[in-house]
Amino acid sequence: MWICRDHDPIAELVCPRASVLVPTMGALHEGHLALVRQAVEHADRHALAGGAVVWIFVNPTQFDEPSDFKRYARTLDDDVEQCRVCGASGVYAPAVRAVYPPDNPILVPQLPDQAVGKGLEDAHRPRHFEGVCQVVRRMFDLVRPAAAVFGEKDWQQLQVVHAMSARDNLGVEILNGPTVREPDGLAMSSRNRFLVGPEREQGLALSRALRAASDEPDPASAESAMRRVYADHAIDSPNYAAIRDAETLGPVVEGRPARAITAARVGTVRLLDNAPWPLSQP
Ligand code: PAF
Repeated sequence: MWICRDHDPIAELVCPRASVLVPTMGALHEGHLALVRQAVEHADRHALAGGAVVWIFVNPTQFDEPSDFKRYARTLDDDVEQCRVCGASGVYAPAVRAVYPPDNPILVPQLPDQAVGKGLEDAHRPRHFEGVCQVVRRMFDLVRPAAAVFGEKDWQQLQVVHAMSARDNLGVEILNGPTVREPDGLAMSSRNRFLVGPEREQGLALSRALRAASDEPDPASAESAMRRVYADHAIDSPNYAAIRDAETLGPVVEGRPARAITAARVGTVRLLDNAPWPLSQP
């Protein structure tokens, strides 16, 4: 497995084009490793000689809170070892100056509709998707993968990337990676490590809210059911608890797939989760 840390031009030499990229910000957990294994399998199945390439970069432009950026866990040596065990072909962990060269401004692409005015992440993290779209375009330019795997846990991000990639013909197949959960239902996240004491139990409100929503016959009652679950877990105001069209993230349209999507602050940690609505839907 090759590793490219920090340095700029080497990456363009060592990153083979026919690869499957796994974009991450590091602090890898079982959820990420499932994406790496999926990428390895996809590369094998499609005879992509570059195999799975893991991108590890804590992207400063997508954080709206400097404190969140500062405390984001950085565990590169461990991450590299886990990638090796999962069969990745390479790890690219560039320096900030390689991604954003001081003499070459990296443009923020026009945001797809999915990123704007939806009252979801866009309402709570101003400029977040500008940073995400900027870094995704940049990593695609640097690595030039054939495909890239993005986790379903960040559902709005996944739809934004699908839409941007299709609109701009980026030539990268976007693959969805299913969410991996703890045995009690908590969606795995690099931020879970900051849940302390009773917050860990409170964090279960999200997956329980998604299950409660699934039993309801219409979006309005499903959203109310989610809010009741939050109240039962002493979370008075989740950021959002919404039923939306799974792809456009607009209002539900009869006959099209829908998704329950939610985010809430638990202690100092913002958690996200989502599921098909109803759950029996693919
Ligand atoms: O989902 C993430 O970890 C990040 O938003 C991503 C896609 C790696 C971009 O920095």
